This record gives sequence, C-alpha cells and structure tokens, in this order.
Amino acid sequence: MNSPAMQGLNLNTPAYVKNGKLIAWVADMAALCKPDAIYWCDGSQDEYDRMCQQLVDAGTFKKLNPAKRPGSYLALSDPSDVARVEDRTYICSARKEDAGPTNNWMAPADMRATLQPLFDGCMKGRTMYVVPFSMGPLGSHIAHIGVELTDSAYVVVNQKLMTRMGKAVHDVLGTDGEFVPCMHTVGAPLAEGQKDTTAWPCNPTVKYIVHYPETREIWSYGSGYGGNALLGKKCLALRIASNMGRDQGWLAEHMLILGVTNPQGKKYHVAAAFPSACGKTNFSMLVPPEAGFAGWKVTTIGDDIAWIKPHADGKMYAINPEAGYFGVAPGTNMHTNPNCMRSLDKNVIFTNVALTDDGDVWWEGLTKQAPDHLIDWQGKDWTPEIAKETGRKAAHPNARFTAPAAQCPSIDSAWEDPAGVPISAFIFGGRRAAAVPLVVEAFNWNYGVYMAATMGSETTAAAFGAQGVVRRDPFAMLPFMGYNMSDYFQHWLDLGKKLEASGATLPRIYTTNWFRKGEDGKFVWPGYGENMRVLKWMIDRIEGKASGNEHVFGVSPAYEELNWTGLDFTAEQFKTVTSIDKAAWQKELELHAELFQQLAYHLPAELTATKAKIEQRLAA
Ligand code: OXD
Ligand code: MN
Repeated sequence: MNSPAMQGLNLNTPAYVKNGKLIAWVADMAALCKPDAIYWCDGSQDEYDRMCQQLVDAGTFKKLNPAKRPGSYLALSDPSDVARVEDRTYICSARKEDAGPTNNWMAPADMRATLQPLFDGCMKGRTMYVVPFSMGPLGSHIAHIGVELTDSAYVVVNQKLMTRMGKAVHDVLGTDGEFVPCMHTVGAPLAEGQKDTTAWPCNPTVKYIVHYPETREIWSYGSGYGGNALLGKKCLALRIASNMGRDQGWLAEHMLILGVTNPQGKKYHVAAAFPSACGKTNFSMLVPPEAGFAGWKVTTIGDDIAWIKPHADGKMYAINPEAGYFGVAPGTNMHTNPNCMRSLDKNVIFTNVALTDDGDVWWEGLTKQAPDHLIDWQGKDWTPEIAKETGRKAAHPNARFTAPAAQCPSIDSAWEDPAGVPISAFIFGGRRAAAVPLVVEAFNWNYGVYMAATMGSETTAAAFGAQGVVRRDPFAMLPFMGYNMSDYFQHWLDLGKKLEASGATLPRIYTTNWFRKGEDGKFVWPGYGENMRVLKWMIDRIEGKASGNEHVFGVSPAYEELNWTGLDFTAEQFKTVTSIDKAAWQKELELHAELFQQLAYHLPAELTATKAKIEQRLAA
C-alpha cells in the first residue's frame, strides 16, 4: 500500500496519542483516502469555535444573530442529502442469515471490493479529521469508544455536541484500548488545485452506510447528513452496539429514558421506543399538566438511544450513550415541548430550518403565524403567499437541531451516572391512525415482546422515501437492527427468562398510540403533556392501584382510572382511542402473520404461541 510517508503526508500524531492500533489505522486510512492534511481533534471549545468559523467562511454555516440565538449556526444541506438512506444501509455479516431479511446485505468481501475504489482518493483536496469519542460517560464500564475519520468539518462540530469528544478519550484508550473504527467521507474529492465552492459537499448519487458486525467496523460514503454521517449515533450506538449487546448479554435500544417522580418523592424510570419522528424527544421532556398533577415531575435522561444492562440486583439499568440531541425541528414549539425549546436557546447547530430576516430560525409549527418573509431551507425567498401557491415548506420536514443535552431544563441529575438508572417499565409506541389502542399493558414479558415485535407505524420524513405508509417496525428498530431480527426477539426473550429465573421482577411492558384519528381525520388524543395521564396510569399499575380492563392481548385503563382533572376528554372520545375492533384486529393479525413469515428463520416459538393465544381469545 502507498504509505502516507511515501506521499509526503505528515500524520501529525500528537504526543498524547499512544494507541498503536489507532495510529496504524489512521496511517492506513490516510494512504487509502489521500487527504491533503490530517487533523487530530482535541475536542476543546477553542477548536469548536475555530471550526465553526471555518464553516462560516466556507459558506456551510451562517452565524445566527447572537442577540437572539447566541453561539448558534444554521447549515443548509444539499437537497439530495436530507435524511437517513435506509436503502443504502447495509449489514455485511459473514452469513446473510445473520443480517436477516430486514437488512440489506452484501458479503463482506464483495462490499469491501465495492468500497475500495470509492474510498481510494475520496478525501483528495480535503482534511481528514480524527474524531475520538466516547458513547456513554468517559471511562464508564458501560461506555464504548469510537474513532471517526471524516472529511467533514460539519461532522466534527456535531460530534462535539452529540458525544464526549476529544483528547480525554485518548487517556481512556491508552496504549491498547479497544475502539470502533468509523470511516466517513462525503465522497466529493477535489481535483488538483480545485477550490471547494460547494457549501454542502456530498455525493448526490452514490451513498453507502455499511456495517461489518463481526469486525465491528463502520464505513459511510457519500452523505454528510445526521445518522448517515454522525457515526456514533445510529451506526455505532444501535447497529454495532446491538451486536455487542447480544454477545455480552445487554440491550442497545432506540429508546428515550425518563425519570418520573410522584408527589411523595418516589421515582421510577421508564424507557420508551418510538419510531423516528414520532415524539420521542417530546415524551422524554414531558411537562405534566398543571391541573391535577401538582408535585409530579418528569426528568430527562435520554431522548433517542438507551443501553440497558442487567445488574447483579436483578434490575435492568439504562444509560444514554449520547451527550446531545439531534432532534426534528418542525412541530417543536412551546406547547409541544417547552423544555426542548429552552434547550435550543443557545449553542445550537440547526440544519435545514428557515432563516428569519433578523438572523434567527423558524420552522413549520414553531409559531401559529409564519413570518412575512424567510429564506427557506433551500436558500430561496419564502413568504406565506408563496407557500400557499406552491406548497413549499420553509423548513425541510426532517430539519434538525443539534444541542448539548446539559442545556435541557428537565435534565435528570443522574443522566451521566455511569451506573445508569433502574428501569421499571418499557413503552413501545407506534404512529397508527386506526386499530391500535391508546395504551395496553402486556400480560407478561413474552406478550410484551410479542407486542413490540409486531409493532406497526406510519413512516415519517426521518428516512428518505414515501411518508405515512404503515410498515412493521419491530421495537422501533427496523432501520437500526444490526443483526437478524428474529435472533434479536430471542435475545429479549432469553434475557427476560434469565432475569426471572434469578428471582427478579421484570419491568412491565406497555404499548401506546398517541396518533389515533377520528372519523374527521383529526387526532383524538391531545398528546404532548397530556401523555402524563397515561404515564401516571402505568405507575398506578406498577403500584397495584389500577386494575384496568383485560382484553384479548392485555390490559387497558377504564375511563375512570385516568386522572382527567383539567382536560375535557369525554368517555366517548376515550372509547374512540381505546376500542379494539374485532375485524380490524383480525386484519392486524394477518399482517403479524405476514411479518412472521418474513422472519421465519429463527423466529422464536414463544411468539407464534403467543399469536395463537391472541387469535383464540379474539375468536372466542
Ligand atoms: C433519529 C432517527 O435521527 O431516529 O433519531 O431518525
Ligand atoms: Mn431516533
């Protein structure tokens, strides 16, 4: 191989970098990608400020009005690069069956042969940044280290907010610590002497987001956006970590983590999985209604990903491996999520939202009335009149904010506790206009796993492709599962069995659906802070204070069991969001059968048995 020394490229390795494997890998990757320079990120504020300024100079960032939004920037992406690309995402395990039918697969050798020519010289004319990061508190026995090599300064500054990034990671890595190598390029090399004139370099036609689970490697080509490029998030913390979890007996989940404290001061922790852009961030920062919930408090541990490990005490403890929020902006406002809005007051990177005339940001749903004039996410003039005529949105529906978690007013004091927080309940929530009730408690662990495994949800703008189509999204993990889905179901079942055998009380499992619609096509349940009423019912169940109504697949609340103080929600409306229609469920079970057919290889017998029991009850 052409060594960097042969190219005359200086590795510039700082003296504090002692890990031989890391240095050798960086040298190899530099030889492959042929950047003009290598820069080792130290993660300092000074470095962050410098790189943000560099992005302003390059036209990628616009500095927002410091009087309105201090320390904040706006980036507008290439219109071809606005969301995760699920059809370009691969799990390249040695055996196809180990990736399973829900993942794109290619044999590792074939994928390596495909990527090799793409990565060869992919960073020409650019700098290769070495970005060391820890997922989870630095040095925690639960945390894992990744090192991302990227030619995107935008990625570097986002990683600074989303992870514990910088020099201190090298102290943990030492001379021979383990790390997950994460290769990233925007796939836009420059010709000799060519100046980069694009504000958002990417490869508009060729994209690959590739995972090698056995060797725990990530290779991402062609995109600079979100989960495609910030490789600690979906790629490491879910797809690679799910493999680590299976091998080591823990769970990597697409879940928020919240604390809920009752007026007596008793605290519970809940982990909840919802598909992308279904209100996870809102739920994690929920503000209980003023009326009827005095003394109740919800605190935020994480908004997107949970790593959950069983402890010797039989409880399951969860940590948030991330350090920031990469959330969907449209729809976020002082009603839907006031804590999030306050987290966005300063030090934020916005991507693909609109720019106001006074140098601040705006997105659909931020205020009832749109400003008279904006620059939209494509850099064009936008007015409410233009929007009416053309239907053009000011912000892209998957526009995002990147903000430090520590800025969130509802942040839990234990959010960085390396030991994690003990989980009392899991929630699985889909986005379904019909059929699925507001809330159901599973009869037991196996029923809960069944309900999570068969969860359906309407697709959203978080991924490229058609929106609003119902697809099965087991555990809200469909786009993030790093191995065979049926083996993952088995892993959940086995973990439950093992903990139960040791005498542990397992967390309860619930499903929710905030999105059921009435005959007028409008959402019936008010959602947001009002979801506290459902959360309290769950706590009541755990405390043995609510008996609920048993039905074919679980237990749902009686109307009187929810605290309705301050909310005008009739028994009739409640029926609309909780009713279980026999014909609709027979259809739903046919869809479960289709899913099980697709996942037949290694499908746990417990799940088919549970399905048979539900069918029998439904027929009775
Ligand atoms: C996310 C997603 O970005 O789920 O969190 O798409
Ligand atoms: Mn997510």
